[in-house]
Amino acid sequence: MSDRHLLIVYHSQSGTTEAMAQAVIRGASDPAIEGVRLRVRAALDAGPEDVLWAHGVILGTPENFGYMSGGLKTFLDRSYHACLEQTQGLPWALFVRAGNDGTGAVDSVERIVAGLRWKPIGAPLVVAGPAEAGDYAAACEELGMTMAAGLEAGIF
Ligand SMILES: Cc1cc2nc3c(=O)[nH]c(=O)nc-3n(C[C@H](O)[C@H](O)[C@H](O)COP(=O)(O)O)c2cc1C
Repeated sequence: MSDRHLLIVYHSQSGTTEAMAQAVIRGASDPAIEGVRLRVRAALDAGPEDVLWAHGVILGTPENFGYMSGGLKTFLDRSYHACLEQTQGLPWALFVRAGNDGTGAVDSVERIVAGLRWKPIGAPLVVAGPAEAGDYAAACEELGMTMAAGLEAGIF
């Protein structure tokens, strides 16, 4: 089978979502997974062409003002209509970093992605409150690895 394509798009203002993203990337880059090509984009630099390239997408955002970050929102704004007809059923996953909650970010992303009719591979990964990168690295790595391995195996 030809390579499967995994896109990771995230926004981070002060670096904590970035730390989650780096762990997700590590998991998705596991050397045991050979048939998956990875593309990592900051949300402000990503666009519909990246989504149309992908067989699976992982989105990451902090919660800002009870919503997803503006960075991820502009990516979805710019991508929604260009992808709507061609990406239904796309497997996707979400990770969120929040100061104390996270549900507003999750709900806001899920509402838009429901419109796109992408298929979640599992529950969103939310890290809320004070935590060091080491506390959640394993969960993030598992998320990345699960998506990549599932794409490689043709499960997703
Ligand atoms: C402008 C702003 C708004 C925020 N709003 C929320 C919020 O509504 N709920 C929450 O749990 N945390 C909120 N936070 C805290 C961030 O989600 C938290 O600090 C997160 O770790 C930041 O991620 P980043 O380091 O990737 O930018 C807010 C932070 C900022 C800067």
